[in-house]
Amino acid sequence: MNDDIILDVRNVTKKFPGVIALNNVSIQVKRGEIHGLCGENGAGKSTLMKILSGVYPYGTYEGSVIYEGQELKLEERSIRQATEQGIAIVYQELTLVPSMTVGENVYLGKEPLENGIINWNKLYANTDRILAQYKLDVKSQSLVKSLGVGKMQMVEIAKALSEDAKVLILDEPTSALTEAEINKLMEILGILKEHGVTCIYITHKLDEFFRITDRVTVLRDGQTVTTQPTEDLTEERLVNFMVGRQMKERFPKGHRQPGEVMFEVEDLHAEDPNESGRNVLNGVSFNLRRGEILGIAGLMGSGRTELVTTIFGEYGKITKGKIKLENKDIQINSARQAIETGISLVPEDRKGQGLVLINSILKNISLPNLNQFASFFRLDKDAELQASMRQAKNLAIKAPNLQVNCDTLSGGNQQKVVIAKWLLSKPKILIMDDPTRGIDVGAKYEIYKLMNELAEKGVSIIMISSELEEVLGMSDRVMVMHEGRSNGTLDVKEATQEKIMALATGIA
Ligand SMILES: Nc1ncnc2c1ncn2[C@@H]1O[C@H](COP(=O)(O)OP(=O)(O)OP(=O)(O)O)[C@@H](O)[C@H]1O
Ligand SMILES: [Mg+2]
Repeated sequence: MNDDIILDVRNVTKKFPGVIALNNVSIQVKRGEIHGLCGENGAGKSTLMKILSGVYPYGTYEGSVIYEGQELKLEERSIRQATEQGIAIVYQELTLVPSMTVGENVYLGKEPLENGIINWNKLYANTDRILAQYKLDVKSQSLVKSLGVGKMQMVEIAKALSEDAKVLILDEPTSALTEAEINKLMEILGILKEHGVTCIYITHKLDEFFRITDRVTVLRDGQTVTTQPTEDLTEERLVNFMVGRQMKERFPKGHRQPGEVMFEVEDLHAEDPNESGRNVLNGVSFNLRRGEILGIAGLMGSGRTELVTTIFGEYGKITKGKIKLENKDIQINSARQAIETGISLVPEDRKGQGLVLINSILKNISLPNLNQFASFFRLDKDAELQASMRQAKNLAIKAPNLQVNCDTLSGGNQQKVVIAKWLLSKPKILIMDDPTRGIDVGAKYEIYKLMNELAEKGVSIIMISSELEEVLGMSDRVMVMHEGRSNGTLDVKEATQEKIMALATGIA
């Protein structure tokens, strides 16, 4: 037995109906290391982690997992068993109960008891101890719903660590975090490492592998491609391992010729619909030309999502300003009206707003677009299926067929379904709120290509993005927001990361 190896995954195979999610996967995780796990959407990363944490118990997969020298045999319906043995996981989606306090969440289902009743003092004292030990900056008595996503992530970590974890699994922990929160998380991972905790770290942001991991394993189509020390890797090599081919450029070249002004927003002011008097937009002006891609940059909280959801008729109460489509004033009060007017929005929170998980891929893609397939009050099922299949193929959605429910898809593939649905809606104005978050590099490229094609056909696109490289790589112009205002618009030819940051932070 090799004492340095804490987890030895040996020839693990996991099948679902029509899908081999893991095909003979072997990975060795060394004690105390941060081990990165990398791979395209649907490669099998989350499935493997669900085996390690007992979501898929012993007997539901082939092969074996040796943990601390012994075969891991987690029983059915006993996710707690993994944590008791020291394997803790922070899932791709947050799992906290918003109406409870931090402490209640950390000890949910394992509250310390005294004579059969919960010992609250102990519960909060223990929580405080964990929070302090790992320098997690939250208060044990705060309500979870009062916290931002970054802090919720910390609570998830505290929860995972509340039983002495030897192995901590993080599945895309940074996808909803701000730059500052990501830095904080990296710091926390460093502290965990000092405490001897072994980490398995999954992300689609390749730079993070280079910031914190010691070694990286790449999965492709359910198989192990390679495990390499991070210092022997470059971003380019990692991408090649992931997608199995050379990828020379990250952004496809468009051949766009933006035309006349299609859409205008003039001095838009709006307030929070739930809190009258609280302004969320304080004067936004921009225009958008036919076939143009306008990037919207800005820090988290600068009002970007508020702007597009207000335009889409779903959020802010407009108190001043104008919105014009093709030179006519428009007033939009609902998402349905927006779609009828020719405006579509790929929302930021795709899980919550974009997708009906218990519906099939086909229904999710076609439902808002049924009018395209209806003739004489009958649904042309062939046309519906064909159009949906074309979208699914373009975006390389990984599924046995379009009839499977979306809850069986990997996280990234669920996102692609939402994007497919809105691409099919043939809008005049397509708004995309952080469209490539959680999506692998290969699929990002496909989405960029589709954006280019749409723009070349005359669709005008507004793209919010937190990745400056993406904004610079895809936009014709970049509008930068700061504190609910448009703080300047740059032509991409003159735009640089520094100039955008200066406008975003309000220095310029
Ligand atoms: N419960 C399930 N039923 C059927 N198929 C499933 C189920 N869970 C996962 N799959 C399939 O197994 C494959 C691997 O999915 P997994 O979630 O492990 O991917 P992933 O690598 O985590 O991808 P992502 O980067 O998108 O999160 C996918 O093809 C997915 O559709
Ligand atoms: Mg996943």
